[in-house]
Amino acid sequence: MAVFIFTGILVLCQIIISVFPLLYHLPYRHNYLTLIPLAILWANWLIYHNNPGVHVFGIVLWVFFAFFSLFMVLTTTSAALVGADRERRDEPLALGTGAGRGVVMVYHPGFSGFPKAANIAVAEGLAAEGMRVTLCTPYSGLEIDSRAEVVGLSSPVYGGTIRPPLTAFLGRADLKGKKCFVILTGWFNDWNAEADKKYRKLVESRGGVFIGGMGFSQLAGLKAEDTRAFVGALMEKIGTAGSKR
Ligand SMILES: Cc1cc2nc3c(=O)[nH]c(=O)nc-3n(C[C@H](O)[C@H](O)[C@H](O)COP(=O)(O)O)c2cc1C
Repeated sequence: MAVFIFTGILVLCQIIISVFPLLYHLPYRHNYLTLIPLAILWANWLIYHNNPGVHVFGIVLWVFFAFFSLFMVLTTTSAALVGADRERRDEPLALGTGAGRGVVMVYHPGFSGFPKAANIAVAEGLAAEGMRVTLCTPYSGLEIDSRAEVVGLSSPVYGGTIRPPLTAFLGRADLKGKKCFVILTGWFNDWNAEADKKYRKLVESRGGVFIGGMGFSQLAGLKAEDTRAFVGALMEKIGTAGSKR
């Protein structure tokens, strides 16, 4: 049984390593190293499955198998991360009336649809308050419309940090005088006092005025009341002149 489970895992690793670079137009590298642990696994099985008991060579084969499998799992994880972290230039989405005050929300979409869904929920809330919202993804060359009063910044959290496309954008963005908010998406709600301090500092280092942040938990799911409360708090800071209220 174990031999089939391990084979399944390794075949999955091989598919990810082979398909992701093609899917995401990454520099393609042929990597068939998964064949090494697979060959060791099946050699071990063929030699010993009719011959139970403890065999020194069998143990040596298991050690090599574990070593190469770990290597492949790490390689696969990094291939998946490269896929998730790639810069994407999605078609901008516009919400709200043309006359409303401008908000640009820059969000890294990650892998799943969750970060985009969370950002759209907030964008819809702001649009309902009379703001004109544009959602776009961070890519090199993205310039924020200078007329925008408010800028949203958002990324999935991996290992406690926002992803490279947003970090890179923040490194070059001119947020001078813009009211800025931050949205983190994660398995958990990653917004806490430490995050507040960290992203406030980051926004201020680019000349922006920090007006709040929010964490959306993928495990808890999007909750309309949380989004409403966040949008309400943002609108208080944005001020109402020129918007619906
Ligand atoms: C490698 C990896 C590391 C992650 N680390 C965290 C983490 O530290 N904290 C957290 O709340 N979520 C973490 N997540 C979950 C993602 O942030 C969550 O799935 C996100 O909302 C959606 O991102 P995605 O669309 O790229 O999957 C991690 C996910 C992956 C794949």
